[in-house]
Amino acid sequence: MFTDKAQGRGWSAIRARSAHLFRRGKGVFPAGVTRSTIERDPIPIYVAKGEGAYVWDADGNRLLDLNNNFTTLIHGHGFAPVMEAVEKVLKMGTCFANPTEYEIALGELLVSRLPAMEQVRFVNSGTEAVMFAIKAARAFTRRSAIVRFAGSYHGAYDWAEAGQGGVIVDDASGRNLPKLGYPGAPQSIADNVLVLNFNDVAGIEHSIAPRANDVAAILIDPMPSRAGLLHPAPDFIATVSAVARKYGILVIADEVLNLRQGFAGASARYGLEPDLITVGKIIGGGFPVGAIGGRTDVMAVFGSDDEAPLLSQGGTFSANTVSMVAGKAAMEAMTLEAFDRLERLGDGLRKGLADVVLKRSAPFSVSGAASLFRIHPRRIAPTSFHMATMTSEENDVMRALSRHFLACGILLPFGAAACLSTPMSDADVESIVAAFDDFLEKNSRTDWEGR
Ligand SMILES: Cc1ncc(COP(=O)(O)O)c(C=O)c1O
Repeated sequence: MFTDKAQGRGWSAIRARSAHLFRRGKGVFPAGVTRSTIERDPIPIYVAKGEGAYVWDADGNRLLDLNNNFTTLIHGHGFAPVMEAVEKVLKMGTCFANPTEYEIALGELLVSRLPAMEQVRFVNSGTEAVMFAIKAARAFTRRSAIVRFAGSYHGAYDWAEAGQGGVIVDDASGRNLPKLGYPGAPQSIADNVLVLNFNDVAGIEHSIAPRANDVAAILIDPMPSRAGLLHPAPDFIATVSAVARKYGILVIADEVLNLRQGFAGASARYGLEPDLITVGKIIGGGFPVGAIGGRTDVMAVFGSDDEAPLLSQGGTFSANTVSMVAGKAAMEAMTLEAFDRLERLGDGLRKGLADVVLKRSAPFSVSGAASLFRIHPRRIAPTSFHMATMTSEENDVMRALSRHFLACGILLPFGAAACLSTPMSDADVESIVAAFDDFLEKNSRTDWEGR
């Protein structure tokens, strides 16, 4: 069996305050928490504060944070330029029904960096950004359906969520239908969402051609995290673009998470040329944000000098001053050099983890790029959602791994991308590799048999 240092020490002893808070949370929140993405094993770890690369939990334990609020905090916690910018703007006013110079400044920064972003609109979350990008593609093409890839996470908008869990085969037609997000979701959603397999080059033309005239957009995360942090094959990216152009379909690159892959973003890195692009997370400096950008003629669905909008896009807190100044401070500090340094740290980490796997002949692999990584309980890094889907045994292995990391003072997200932040050092990377090596050492070779 896999060793489990944290369980061995006893949860109640090291997480007494978290256990107490969880009991209180259960009094007011369904399942005790306000987000279903909160990890609990067996209880959530309540955080009291964060500073730089670390968080301190409610019981005073210091943990290296590889989650960074689901990859949002590229500078870790309490980044001084963000705090200073926010302190200043708090005195000026946090939100207005009027536009401000702050939103223009962040908009200019994004447009100057992202080749696909000629114009931009701000919203409050990645979910909202994807929702408006889909609506914009529909309004522009006057078509309803979207294509997306199995397993990718694009937030909680119904059409973006369908297919996140993969597909089910319809008994009557024999067609693959997207798994819908929740019981009672309208079946009509399934009629308008085609779910394809990431990296399946042949499947794209073959599946889209019969419905091409209905399809408004191909929604693609260039390196889908929840689907397995899958590396995109170059011919796959090229085929997505070619098929989209052929049939007048727009490409929406969802870079809410993967913008952190480089100064010009992930699409530029992998040769994808989207018509629309959604971003979020790092562009808010730790405050709620999302943005939809893209080609000027497509963005004109939100209105232009000459035409009334085809699509209404409001949002009480959209472009609030706090998110705008925090995002600008965070993004300005992400210079080319800062991205390069994170990339080198990430390369070193992925190599360190892979070396340990080799040394111990363990059935694990590592995927990721730039500051992102994910450990898989398989010898070959997955290239599709199907390959990345874990058996219950593999789930247990990854649970044990997360617990082991926790006992070593490291927060490793479960079933999603882990990430580095700018305050992290080579010593932090070494501690991550050492924790993994320790885990593999403590688990006998017999555990690997048959895997
Ligand atoms: C690729 C992608 N799209 C959309 C979202 C939704 O963003 P938010 O949680 O800000 O609504 C996420 C969140 O993790 C994401 O990773």
